[in-house]
Amino acid sequence: MLECLPVLLFLIQYTSAEIFKIGYLTGSQRQLGDLEYSKPGRTISGAISLAVEEVNKGQLGRMGHKLDYIVAETYGKEVVSVQKTADLWKMNVSVYIGPQETCEHEAFMAAAFNLPMISYYCIHHATSDKSKFPTFARTRPPDTQISKSVASILLAFNWTHVILLYLKSADYEVFETVAEIILEVLKAAGITVAATRNWFVPFHVGYDDNPFYSILEETYKDTRIFVILGHHYEHFGLMLAMEEMNLFDTGKFLV
Ligand SMILES: *[C@@H]1O[C@H](CO)[C@@H](O)[C@H](O)[C@H]1NC(C)=O
Ligand SMILES: *[C@@H]1O[C@H](CO)[C@@H](O)[C@H](O)[C@H]1NC(C)=O
Repeated sequence: MLECLPVLLFLIQYTSAEIFKIGYLTGSQRQLGDLEYSKPGRTISGAISLAVEEVNKGQLGRMGHKLDYIVAETYGKEVVSVQKTADLWKMNVSVYIGPQETCEHEAFMAAAFNLPMISYYCIHHATSDKSKFPTFARTRPPDTQISKSVASILLAFNWTHVILLYLKSADYEVFETVAEIILEVLKAAGITVAATRNWFVPFHVGYDDNPFYSILEETYKDTRIFVILGHHYEHFGLMLAMEEMNLFDTGKFLV
């Protein structure tokens, strides 16, 4: 028994000073030449210093441990985000907080490294598959949630034949991502998407040519149900175009 004591003491001493390193993946800056990236990390990141401070003041701190964090900037680019995930692993982090816009490949790496990854932002649905991404969790619902609601509404009214319109722009990639998921979910639900059509820059009523006239000309004979994915003012633009084309007169069209 006495022989064990020094070892035990050593262990207690050793563990009592443990510092847990968090790898914080955030997009809070623009790369040189990027004039568009909205840098959500700038508004979110205050939370990490606050949280770490509170945890260090709380139970963990009282037990003699400490949290520390290393910031890794992704510039909102997937390739940088993946690279930083590897860099942080090399720095021996115990957990990832983040990443932001993308997470599929980062979460797969976290699984391979057997490190927990908690994203506060990424909505990509693939990471919900826990057999493939067992160490990934998030605090924001994935984009499939909305897709399932769309499918449920359509099915409830027996609207099984629709046209999908969405904004396709590199600056608003989220719409394209969600559109792809909606397509998958609708197909699985037995709903036919007769066609998809796009507009390519955000449309503000009264400032640009309304892109929906030509889209409607091409599609209104194929369906009466339109699903649109974009900004609310673009929805308004579609409604205006349909109104002017008298499509609502018969009560047969629905957006
Ligand atoms: C990470 O851990 C390894 C193994 O304990 C050690 O050799 C290396 O120096 C550590 N790297 C950093 C950046 O702390
Ligand atoms: C949808 O179709 C099914 C089968 O044709 C029918 O039983 C049901 O009443 C329909 N629902 C609505 C809301 O029209």
